[in-house]
Amino acid sequence: TPGPATANSAVAAAATVITNIASLVTNDPSLGDGSPLGLIQDAAVVIDGDRVVWVGESSKAPATDNRVDAGGRAVIPGFVDSHSHLVFAGDRTAEFNARMSGRAYTAGGIRTTVAATRAATDEALEANLTRHLAEALRQGTTTFETKSGYGLTVEDEARALRIAARHTEEVTYLGAHIVSPDYADDPAAYVALVTGEMLDACAPYARWVDVFCEKGAFDGDQARAILTAGQAKGLIPRVHANQLSYGPGVQLAVELDAASADHCTHLTDADVDALANGRTVATLLPGAEFSTRAEWPDARRLLDAGVTVALSTDCNPGSSYTSSVPFCIALAVRDMRMTPDEALWSATAGGAAALRRTDIGHLSPGARADLTILDAPSHVHLAYRPGVPLVREVWRKGERVS
Ligand code: NIG
Ligand code: FE
Repeated sequence: TPGPATANSAVAAAATVITNIASLVTNDPSLGDGSPLGLIQDAAVVIDGDRVVWVGESSKAPATDNRVDAGGRAVIPGFVDSHSHLVFAGDRTAEFNARMSGRAYTAGGIRTTVAATRAATDEALEANLTRHLAEALRQGTTTFETKSGYGLTVEDEARALRIAARHTEEVTYLGAHIVSPDYADDPAAYVALVTGEMLDACAPYARWVDVFCEKGAFDGDQARAILTAGQAKGLIPRVHANQLSYGPGVQLAVELDAASADHCTHLTDADVDALANGRTVATLLPGAEFSTRAEWPDARRLLDAGVTVALSTDCNPGSSYTSSVPFCIALAVRDMRMTPDEALWSATAGGAAALRRTDIGHLSPGARADLTILDAPSHVHLAYRPGVPLVREVWRKGERVS
């Protein structure tokens, strides 16, 4: 049974109660129905400052000065989008168009965005980032990770991260997105740059180091060199792994205790075993399979093996130009054999796990007050009513922001 984790008397009168919530996802299995979602029916949430201080049944909510009536709607934690590439310029409509008439996706398209990004001013890059962030926020994303990877020079990678760091703490150095076109004849020299001067310039702005481990990008040995160089500078690895083909990325990620192996579309049994026995989260990015018309990652297989699964957008102008977590949830449920409960968990608590965060992705007392009021009585509607704008109100750090 749900109960106050903070005594009612300890709740400041100046707090805000959101009441008349038909169904509240807490992601705390010690609350509510005891499922992983910790669902509470007819619930209330009390927010003080930027934190959740109480959750439970509406009838037991402490009195506060401010009362918000959720009108019998569902409340869920804010989405944690743990994988995006939002520091870029230009678009790749023509490439998408060609793909939809039968052309295959390759890493080569990244070069188009690299050229546009290098040519853009700082102001243009930041304006583009801000525009996409506002778009994501309106769709319920309250935390996002974003990467460099479209600069591929010391200066252009560092400025991408400098700009990103003004908007999120979850900044990832991806100088190893592809071998810079300037080093096409000498990939080893590019790896030396990425692990040397470029890393030195980028590390101060980043929390994470990432590499695209794939044919046409970086092989296992190069990826290992890049990730361990990042670790030596205090960055934590995350890996673009096994997206377009089978390869060493996933097992390398687990071996290096990466926070996340992202994509995980082509997995052997040994890859799944490695994930099940390690603490690396598998982040699935169905927007990429949608937009590249590729086969879906097998979420069911990972979940049944006991792997922690996160669900994110991979928002980028090439392989997945969506900022919508609800869209990804609908795809995951329809095509990746996740249940609506699993997909919601993966897009909130799963994303937090992929970022090694405990303050977000759930709504138990003490959590950051990041939440969404849906225009629906239950979170299941996110998959049941695909494409419908169900995000009604977004609250971040205790304040209504959308
Ligand atoms: O995650 N896989 C590598 N990077 C991106 C695609 C980037 C692009 O095509 O511009 C991804 O899908
Ligand atoms: Fe990506």
